Amino acid sequence: MYDRNPTLESLERRIDESRQGEVYLKGEELSSGRFFYIESYGCQMNFSDSEIVASVLAAEGYAPTRDLAKAELIFINTCSIREKAEETVRKRLRIFDQLKQQRPGLLVGVLGCMAERLKKKFLEEEKLVDLVVGPDAYRDLPKLVRQAEEGHRAINVFLSREETYADISPLRLDESGVSAFISIMRGCDNMCSFCVVPFTRGRERSRDPFTVVAEAADLFEKGYREVTLLGQNVDSYHWKNPETGEQVNFARLLAMVAEVHSDLRVRFSTSHPKDMTDEVLETMAKYENICKYIHLPVQSGNSRILALMNRTYDRTWYEERIRAIRRIVPDCAISTDIICGFCSETEEEHRDTLSMMRWANFSMAYMFYYSERPGTLAARKLKDDVPLEVKKRRLQEVIALQNEISLAHNQADVGKTFKVLIEGDSKRSTDDFKGRNSQNKMIVFPKKPGLKPGDYVFVQIEEATSATLRGFIASP
Ligand code: 5AD
Ligand code: SF4
Repeated sequence: MYDRNPTLESLERRIDESRQGEVYLKGEELSSGRFFYIESYGCQMNFSDSEIVASVLAAEGYAPTRDLAKAELIFINTCSIREKAEETVRKRLRIFDQLKQQRPGLLVGVLGCMAERLKKKFLEEEKLVDLVVGPDAYRDLPKLVRQAEEGHRAINVFLSREETYADISPLRLDESGVSAFISIMRGCDNMCSFCVVPFTRGRERSRDPFTVVAEAADLFEKGYREVTLLGQNVDSYHWKNPETGEQVNFARLLAMVAEVHSDLRVRFSTSHPKDMTDEVLETMAKYENICKYIHLPVQSGNSRILALMNRTYDRTWYEERIRAIRRIVPDCAISTDIICGFCSETEEEHRDTLSMMRWANFSMAYMFYYSERPGTLAARKLKDDVPLEVKKRRLQEVIALQNEISLAHNQADVGKTFKVLIEGDSKRSTDDFKGRNSQNKMIVFPKKPGLKPGDYVFVQIEEATSATLRGFIASP
């Protein structure tokens, strides 16, 4: 268990054990010795938000721990995108509730999209949690924690039109020290009919580009060699200086970050087919350090379904965007998201998705079956009428096809040599490093003395599976 007033020595030992001690020591709050534990689900944006939360809590003297037993505050940063994501969170909350029974005073907080979606219901019906905090209310956490400590139910689910946390320096929870996320915008103004995000994350707003560049420069200085610019729809990034009227779009922002240092790789996610401009593609082509990889969710290969999804593009438009990528950034890999069994989807329309996948030759895909979300346009206007078995079968077909395509895509890389950023030890063996090439493919290769995570090496590919490439160092 934990003691609230530990000696410095025992505290340092615990810091060591938590492996995040360095961060804590920097927090200069050694005397309080209070720890929080945070678990994140869902998209990269959520993981990035957890680092904002960690920063806000660190300023209050709380240090992150990976050990639940040490924590006096437990947070779960949640996702609402599909019902399954919410079920997972509920299961975790029940486990945390058992801990609460054993340890009076332990506080559990639910953050993020589920907090926003369910609001007070969490406190009233479920009674599993002490704090409910939406994605735009993290600055309020210190106050909410105090309220909860005093035995009051604490909730803030206010959605802001301005909040970008631009001035908060995230406390990096990932330990690799090589790759980091930078949030460049929040919210989403698209109204995809299946999607809960506009309701949980509010209106779209873009962050001051100079704070983005400063964050990237700071990360580079600290040894990071890759940043991923995050937004629900990065292509609609748009910032206007209120005083001078100067405007910055996504292509400009990309260039600004790429210029921080040629050894800093720049990635971004997620792009929207309706907004992805040739200017962005030209910027990618211009800078070697902007990775040649685009995640461009197609969702369906059928134009009638795309219209029902309110994606505001059709199949022809999507194909044209892929042609533009191939023309302007010929070595670019493209990945996608696919939803199977959306409302009223027929077999033939499902086969359009399969043919789209073959045509586009996606290097990778995230694939789902449709899950109706309360409050969305589809839930209100369309019937969720594809039977679950049919949805699942279509999803299986989509997965099987993507495995085939990914394998062929990867096999085409055998014999090629790629510049790889070393991320760390491979999952399977400490004799091997893992890292990615510009196209975001994971590459595993035997170590060589003198090399470390954060270094670039050239790796020649010898073998491929649908998920990984294997090779050897051709030159450091
Ligand atoms: N059901 C299934 N998949 C969904 N996605 C978003 N909403 C739903 C839903 N209701 C998928 C989309 C999106 C990805 C993040 O999750 O493919 O691009
Ligand atoms: Fe999940 Fe979407 Fe919220 Fe990300 S924005 S956590 S994917 S619901």
